[in-house]
Amino acid sequence: TEYETILVERHDRTALITLNRPKALNALDLTVMAEVVDAATTLDRDPDVGALVITGSAKAFAAGADIKEMRPNGYMDVYLSDWFSAWDRLGDVRKPTIAAVSGYALGGGCELAMMCDILLAADTAVFGQPEIKLGVIPGIGGSQRLTRAIGKAKAMDLCLTGRTMDADEAERAGLVSRIVPAADLLTEALSTAATIAGMSTPIAMMAKESVNRAFETTLAEGVRFERRLFHATFATADQKEGMAAFTEKRTPSFTHR
Ligand code: HXC
Repeated sequence: TEYETILVERHDRTALITLNRPKALNALDLTVMAEVVDAATTLDRDPDVGALVITGSAKAFAAGADIKEMRPNGYMDVYLSDWFSAWDRLGDVRKPTIAAVSGYALGGGCELAMMCDILLAADTAVFGQPEIKLGVIPGIGGSQRLTRAIGKAKAMDLCLTGRTMDADEAERAGLVSRIVPAADLLTEALSTAATIAGMSTPIAMMAKESVNRAFETTLAEGVRFERRLFHATFATADQKEGMAAFTEKRTPSFTHR
């Protein structure tokens, strides 16, 4: 598929989606939203893809939702079109996703990064939810995912003052999985994706589903959910292969079944 605002590449069992609106620092307009969601859901259905990476440019992962596009709208426009709700479909992607963030990840950019499963940050990354400065609040889950990721103290600070945090603060706060030198960001993200894609894909999907369950339920229900999926892994060929390979002291060859 030809896209206008993103680039999509395949590397073996991984896929890379690059936001590509350099003139607007990858501001997330409705076209970007539709294209990222379309690409991610298409790749998610592809049996030859085991993990997805989403990245931006060196200067900006994404500087937020597109302010100029949003500006003229009234309540009925955004309510009736359910503005931004299509991003929820990115959260429905079942394969592991990695956000590789360099430069600005503000507003919707930070929210997009937080929708991914692993957040790799370049040492140049800058995170924030500055919507309040524009007279709005986060609209793609920022107030919820940021609070779950870093707690009330810092989420309130960021959402109420609109201040940004650098990569070090974001990592200390628990927003970021790992910080890497900016020059190595994409290589690291693709190699992490390749590592994951080399595991059994259905098992990786179950691991993702199980971790995500922790945000939706009580501990007892979450542990029960995990145990049911753990039991289900014994129905896969890949469990047989993984445990046989360990016993036979060789590298497993997963068939993703
Ligand atoms: C539309 C944007 C944009 C955005 C940058 N641009 N961010 N256009 N929407 N979110 C455009 C600028 O207008 C400018 O276009 C070009 O990109 C380069 O940006 P500059 O500002 O000139 O770059 P710089 O001086 O380096 O500053 C970078 C920046 C700043 C600090 C990231 O651009 C900035 O503050 N952007 C807005 C960040 C923000 O508030 N994001 C949250 C948005 S609301 P021209 O044509 O002038 O060259 C949101 C949540 C939505 O995301 C949910 C609520 C409904």
